[in-house]
Amino acid sequence: MGRIGSIGVFTSGGDSPGMNAAVRAVVRTALYSKLKAFGIYRGYAGMIDGEIRKLERGSVSNIIQYGGTMLKTSRSPEFETPEGRRTAYENLQKHGIDGVIGVGGDGTFRGLADMVKETDLAVIGLPGTIDNDIYGTDFTIGYDTAVNTALAAIDKIRDTALSHDRLFLIEVMGRHAGFIGLETGIGVGAEEICIPEFRTDLEGIAEHLRERHVKHKASLIMVIAEGDDAGDATQIARKLKEMVGMSFRVTILGHTQRGGSPMSKDRLLASKLGYHAVKAMMIGKTGIMIGELHDKISEVPLEETWGKKKSIDYGLMEMAQILSK
Ligand code: F6P
Repeated sequence: MGRIGSIGVFTSGGDSPGMNAAVRAVVRTALYSKLKAFGIYRGYAGMIDGEIRKLERGSVSNIIQYGGTMLKTSRSPEFETPEGRRTAYENLQKHGIDGVIGVGGDGTFRGLADMVKETDLAVIGLPGTIDNDIYGTDFTIGYDTAVNTALAAIDKIRDTALSHDRLFLIEVMGRHAGFIGLETGIGVGAEEICIPEFRTDLEGIAEHLRERHVKHKASLIMVIAEGDDAGDATQIARKLKEMVGMSFRVTILGHTQRGGSPMSKDRLLASKLGYHAVKAMMIGKTGIMIGELHDKISEVPLEETWGKKKSIDYGLMEMAQILSK
């Protein structure tokens, strides 16, 4: 790997608010540093199909405020095959690209790690997922916005729950991780929070519901991560109904959490990480994710980002239980 002359940037996996800010930061830092910048469209799928275009300063004007990703994204099973990766590499070579920066989650990073092993490209990943489940960075790009979207939605639900004395089960995203569920649950003052990292005690929740009923505390908000061990919100509502005979309203926030204008924190994080990724690549760094730990830029080997598990703050769950009593 010699001196870097051209950088290709792409977004991959589930989109997250702030990805555009990251792309903008990579492109502008590269151009400022006299490198060429290329956009690779639709993630690894576009890399294989040759959807690669040169980007100028103006190509990334007016995107920092938008959710989604101007480069589009995808999940690509074809890139998991050596043939797919070879075709992708050949396409990058055709454009003279010698470094790639991919923004995404663990699937994206696994693809990047394969590129490190199989090619002479410089490769850096940036953590972009609303789930915040990437080891080596305190926050991922898009997480803060997703939590704020969920807060705003649940605050509205609280109004109607209180007015009608209703019990609401609200499902937030997080197939394998409860970061969104925990922070959102604390923020809305949820009476119950169910996340994959904790065993959900439905019997205990049922008992709690019966006690509240006796005390005439009628409305309730439960925040449930989609990947909870007791089931999703719809399944938990059905089980609880059988146990306590009460009826529940279920709201699934779903993909609303993935879109929307990024919050300030996500714009800043994405800008910093994009900027530092180019700087790091220019001094020969490769095979790493650039993140942020305790307000300092972190450099983490790609394999560690999925090989080590980022832990939820267990003390926060205990606190949430006390505060909601
Ligand atoms: O990884 C981000 C995420 O939004 C998860 O929270 C969610 O389970 C999943 O993606 C949904 O993926 P898709 O948009 O492919 O249904």
